[in-house]
Amino acid sequence: MQNPLNHHTEEYADELVPGTMLLHGQYEIEDYLIRGGFGITYLARDSLDRRVVIKECFPSSICCRVDGLVHAKARDHQNQFSSVLRHFLREARRLARLSHPNIVGVHQVFEENCTAYMALDYVDGMDLLSVIEEDPQRLTPEVIRSVLIKSLGAIHYIHDKGILHRDISPDNFLLDSADKLTLIDFGAAREHATKENRALSSLLAVKDGYSPQEFYLGDVTQSPSSDLYALGATFYHLITGKAPPDSQQRLAAVASDAKDPLVPLVPDGADYDPDFLNAINKALEIFPEDRIQSAQDWVEAIDAERRRQSALSHAGKDTSIRLKISQLVAETNLDLNEPVIPPVAPASPVPASPTLASPVIKAPRRRDEPPLAARPGNAAQPKGGAPVSRPVDIFGEPIDDVEAWLSAQDGVAGSERGARGYRPADAPAGNGYSSHHSDTGRQRPRFLRSLMVRLSSATFTRSKNREIPNGKEQS
Ligand SMILES: Nc1ncnc2c1ncn2[C@@H]1O[C@H](COP(=O)(O)OP(=O)(O)O)[C@@H](O)[C@H]1O
Ligand SMILES: [Mg+2]
Repeated sequence: MQNPLNHHTEEYADELVPGTMLLHGQYEIEDYLIRGGFGITYLARDSLDRRVVIKECFPSSICCRVDGLVHAKARDHQNQFSSVLRHFLREARRLARLSHPNIVGVHQVFEENCTAYMALDYVDGMDLLSVIEEDPQRLTPEVIRSVLIKSLGAIHYIHDKGILHRDISPDNFLLDSADKLTLIDFGAAREHATKENRALSSLLAVKDGYSPQEFYLGDVTQSPSSDLYALGATFYHLITGKAPPDSQQRLAAVASDAKDPLVPLVPDGADYDPDFLNAINKALEIFPEDRIQSAQDWVEAIDAERRRQSALSHAGKDTSIRLKISQLVAETNLDLNEPVIPPVAPASPVPASPTLASPVIKAPRRRDEPPLAARPGNAAQPKGGAPVSRPVDIFGEPIDDVEAWLSAQDGVAGSERGARGYRPADAPAGNGYSSHHSDTGRQRPRFLRSLMVRLSSATFTRSKNREIPNGKEQS
């Protein structure tokens, strides 16, 4: 059989022809897809007849194929080609270690024909540029929003690993029929700037409209905000149907005190909320320091729920809460010999951490019961109506005789722990909550038990004025 690599035609000037086998027959080229700055992309089949995509390192400005083998075009290009090849292999191997639902998966990375290849999962989808051009009605505000959140997840993931994609643009996102998004084309990706990488910059194509101005200048530091600029440009294009003006032109305008040719996005109707559009405008700032600095910041800027979670997690680290707990521990240690715990002053309105918040939501009384202070025998309510703290157990039940309660707990804890340990009801067995664990806690220090009463008491004081939602049993 004729070697397809020798069968050069006009149509397949430099590309591998269909039928070409790679990696000892493990992959068979089916079709040429496209040629980019760094290489050529093919559709192929693997030995299990699965469709894959193969990318070949083929920087056509400096190399050519002779008898199937890839060579630098000229002696002067030899070092550059070697450098690109090393870079391709390094990045391919790095990409192969990534695992994210919105990043294309790598099957194999191998060397052959004096160049390098990577075999990728085939994504049965359409790139976003084609979607804009051929099926724009598919890009509803909901789809655009969900696609942005997914792409930020993928970009956060790579940035966290120290990788810049460097070629974020609509044609490098694939969208399948279920609106699943996949980020592809890590050919230009690189670790945060190194000297060798800088030498490669001259080879890396910039994409007008998407590349930030620093990509046009070889020696300028590139940062996560560079990828975020390109992402902002991508979504500007998805929303307006037009890519932003190229960043060099924008920089020149700003430098000469002329008006920035970029028309910022402004809310128009209810399609997008202002936070969503403002975040894209901010990502598209011309100077890196003015931009959104991280994918996570971007997500928080547009997602109220994430903002809330982030605030809670900060509150969890809030020193005022830790201070409150250490105060309680100190007071409790002082009070160890006192049978009656004096009222705890109403807690200051510190932000609740998730762990402290949950008992507050678990209301200290049942719906069908009157408020604690109004129950018979609980006449602790002073005339002025100011809240008075009473010690309560963790279920909010009042404790009249703390000493007796503590002794009773010793008995209950012993028998209950023996029966079911400390494993939370919803925690699977064998996840670290072993019964052995519970036994070691059998003699829980008394100050700790006393502290639990105080914390319950403080919680109760804070939660006292909360209404139980109508008709909803809180368990
Ligand atoms: N994993 C894949 N699954 C399906 N199609 C792909 C895949 N990777 C690339 N393609 C197609 O090939 C095109 C070019 O691939 P890409 O990796 O972006 O290389 P280039 O450097 O040439 O832009 C994409 O726009 C897409 O249409
Ligand atoms: Mg591409």
